[in-house]
Amino acid sequence: MNLLFIGDIFASPGRRIVADHLQDIAATNRIDLVIANAENSAGGFGITPAIADDLFALGIDVLTSGNHVWDKRDLYEYLDRQPRLIRPANYPDAPGKGIVTVASRSGIPCAVINLQGRTYMPSTDCPFRTADHLLSELDAGVKVRFVDFHAEVTSEKIAMGWYLDGRVSAVIGTHTHVPTADTRILPGGTAYQTDCGMTGPYTSVIGVDTTIVLQRFLTALPIRMEAAKSGAELHAVIVDVDESTGRARAIRRHAINGD
Ligand SMILES: [Fe+2]
Repeated sequence: MNLLFIGDIFASPGRRIVADHLQDIAATNRIDLVIANAENSAGGFGITPAIADDLFALGIDVLTSGNHVWDKRDLYEYLDRQPRLIRPANYPDAPGKGIVTVASRSGIPCAVINLQGRTYMPSTDCPFRTADHLLSELDAGVKVRFVDFHAEVTSEKIAMGWYLDGRVSAVIGTHTHVPTADTRILPGGTAYQTDCGMTGPYTSVIGVDTTIVLQRFLTALPIRMEAAKSGAELHAVIVDVDESTGRARAIRRHAINGD
């Protein structure tokens, strides 16, 4: 089965390019399951219930998130009633859940797990031990298992790839918004890429208006950040998973240049 993961959807340029291209990508690549990280889909900061509903309506099956999932207060109760939007599982006591099992278009059960790193990130429970715990409780019949590891540093992400190799179908990194060129399948059959890259405005500094970010670096003043508006690109990976074993057969990057 083919699984599509779309990297961090950032603000309206990110949402627009997904709306414009998702149907075509899914049809052309015979996609069975669509997952996307949407923690910054609302103006570059957080996600709202209305935006989550819109993204699901476009054909995304599961939304993952990260540290910015807490930016919008009205999302807290939404997380408790919409299991297909997950937050990092290693937050110790938070609304929502960090794992969901859904059926693919062809009826294959697929688990999606969201974890967050701890280096230069909020102090959460250990993501490695949290992964152990979640996998120990997961029905052994659920072979297809996707992990979005939302983390800052490459070493922590690569370490998670090796830690989960052979136990999940894919570990794909998010949060840093810059796609990495280390797409591969680890020896145990886990597809891996350190960062999927942002789906949003690339005429920017990781999604934020370039002039504002430069002013902040030059003056160190707390100038209000705003999402950039142009240079939309979509960055995703397509993973071909053997549904009988859960092992990845192939992974490839899929990118689209928009405006
Ligand atoms: Fe993040």
